Amino acid sequence: TSMTLQSSSDNSFIKKLQSSGRSLVVFYGSQTGTGEEFATRLAKEGVRYRLKGMVADPEECDMEELVSLKTIPNSLAVFCMATYGEGDPTDNAMEFYEWLQNGDADLTGLNYAVFGLGNKTYEHYNEVAIYVDKRLEELGATRVFDLGLGDDDANIEDDFITWKDKFWPAVCEYFGIESTGEDISIRQYRLQEFDEIPDRVYTGEMARLHSLRNQRPPYDAKNPYLAKIKVNRELHKTGDRSCMHIEFDIEGSKMRYDAGDHLAVYPVNNSELVEKIGKHCGKDLNTVFTLINTDEESSKKHPFPCPCTYRTALTHYLDITQNPRTHVLKELAEYCTDPAEKEKLKLMASTSPEGKALYQNWIIENNRNIVHVLEDMPSCQPALDHLCELLPRLQPRYYSISSSAKLYPTTVHITAVVVEYTTPTGRHNKGVATTWLSKKIPKPDEELPSAPIFIRKSQFRLPTKPQTPIIMIGPGTGLAPFRGFIQERDQAKEEGKMVGDTVLYFGCRKRSEDFIYEDELLAYENKGLLKLHLAFSRDQPHKVYVSHLLEKEADEVWKIIGENNGHLYICGDAKSMAADVRNIVLKIIQEKGQMTDQQAQAFLKKMETQKRMSADVWR
Ligand code: FAD
Ligand code: 2AM
Repeated sequence: TSMTLQSSSDNSFIKKLQSSGRSLVVFYGSQTGTGEEFATRLAKEGVRYRLKGMVADPEECDMEELVSLKTIPNSLAVFCMATYGEGDPTDNAMEFYEWLQNGDADLTGLNYAVFGLGNKTYEHYNEVAIYVDKRLEELGATRVFDLGLGDDDANIEDDFITWKDKFWPAVCEYFGIESTGEDISIRQYRLQEFDEIPDRVYTGEMARLHSLRNQRPPYDAKNPYLAKIKVNRELHKTGDRSCMHIEFDIEGSKMRYDAGDHLAVYPVNNSELVEKIGKHCGKDLNTVFTLINTDEESSKKHPFPCPCTYRTALTHYLDITQNPRTHVLKELAEYCTDPAEKEKLKLMASTSPEGKALYQNWIIENNRNIVHVLEDMPSCQPALDHLCELLPRLQPRYYSISSSAKLYPTTVHITAVVVEYTTPTGRHNKGVATTWLSKKIPKPDEELPSAPIFIRKSQFRLPTKPQTPIIMIGPGTGLAPFRGFIQERDQAKEEGKMVGDTVLYFGCRKRSEDFIYEDELLAYENKGLLKLHLAFSRDQPHKVYVSHLLEKEADEVWKIIGENNGHLYICGDAKSMAADVRNIVLKIIQEKGQMTDQQAQAFLKKMETQKRMSADVWR
């Protein structure tokens, strides 16, 4: 079985390598851009070791050519592969992954190394990278350096640079190369500024010019739908936190969704932060500019849609609120006129123990973003176009859809908590998307506010038969997808269908404060549709969590999942809640099913493969 890929010369990475005298190709499996960024950094650094490199998207390449990479002397293929969801590869790596799984290509003579991007709070930690590394060896390829694993829950930047620091010497030794030792920084993009405003100027669209004005379906990540916000109301009754119920109008958009899918929203950055950057860099943000890739072989001509103004780039296309990565600090160091600031930035970008500790403390723990770094390094005045080249892309935010399309075919509902917190340096940080959405409140006699959205399909699904009993565990905003599930089961019942047990475990701080959708849930309970278990963690001196309630209801849990082939769903906080709940469920299976720990694990695994147990969790 071999994969059928278009094999025009455009897809030939070998031809590209040959025609530009390169021998290193770095592939990435990337969803949010971090894998791509790491790949770019590796490819760029190759020059230092006489290995001129190129970045490549496996989706755009004829990956079967890996069998003949060995025809290029001293050639090396590196894979920066992210793992998502239930151990899945990213969309752009899917086809390559399947080719590896199903194919039997002879990769003898192929030199390779793999770095994985994953997150330890998820069960299938770095599974994709682990598999790719193992499978390439099975197919005969030669591992030039050990698999590296990055954990996004801790400090993935640290994991990457630590791996990279050992990777290069190993590569040099393997090929018998001596490092040129030069630590040259080369710009990937060339700047062009316009005195006169050109005809085609992007203003925040993701791909096609004016696509947000001239809307044409189908809508997806590259072509989002500018949806009107019909409802935006507060769900918390009191307290200083805010949880929004938002309804997006999708009528006429031809967009479809199922309960359990995710809604993606493209936010924009806070204008105060944007203006601060412009001021610090001494740049008129109205200037129209373009960044053009100096690598003509690259399929990526620009880092983001341009020409556009600096303001548009900083508002719509670039992430200005994440903690900057070490390579950004390293480049910023070159712009410092104060030697002390320069040294500090250089140290943080280094892999020495003091450097790493300083980065961990000054950037990560003190939660500084690029604006804070510039504020605290007044002598550092980078060229704004260089900064625009270095900053990662602003990503869409995902929300579990909290409505059922059976009931609401023309609107999509989401349930989102507004992110707001104070950092150790006393700064007040605000979540990009939720703060932006919190201001989009429909007002009478005014045009409705809007936001660019698209729908991402998920695997989080109700059982096909409504008779199948279900247990849903969703404290806090983890309730979101279950609101859609409950609506759907209710409708089935109204239509006279047999509906199995529908059990919900919900938890929040206080009944009087953050019991979201209380009226709706109690109405479903009164109707006899829903069985509710409520955990109010702060309504009594000791904590009560959904996991505690599950433990008490062990018999009911076992009856549904052990005896009646029911489904179990977990949604919400990935960090502690999901893991705690999983452990309790395992304990129940073990005790009530009279199994050993191992048997219980296997039982749960089987439930997962049968899609009888699924999780929709986030951090
Ligand atoms: P950002 O600007 O992205 O800031 C968030 C970041 O700030 C965090 O990642 C963290 O690094 C930092 N941070 C936050 N709080 C603190 C703190 N107290 N101290 C220090 N640092 C902090 N969210 C929902 O509300 N409802 C949902 O239904 C929902 N579903 C999701 C489904 C999926 C599949 C995924 C991946 C996420 C989901 N989320 C949901 C989370 C959502 O996508 C956003 O991450 C969230 O709304 C924050 O976005 P933001 O742009 O407002 O904040
Ligand atoms: P707490 O904030 O009082 O600790 C929604 O966030 C609810 O989930 C809150 O009541 C919160 O309680 C609770 N919660 C926190 N950690 C949890 C965990 N590990 N398992 C279950 N619920 C948890």
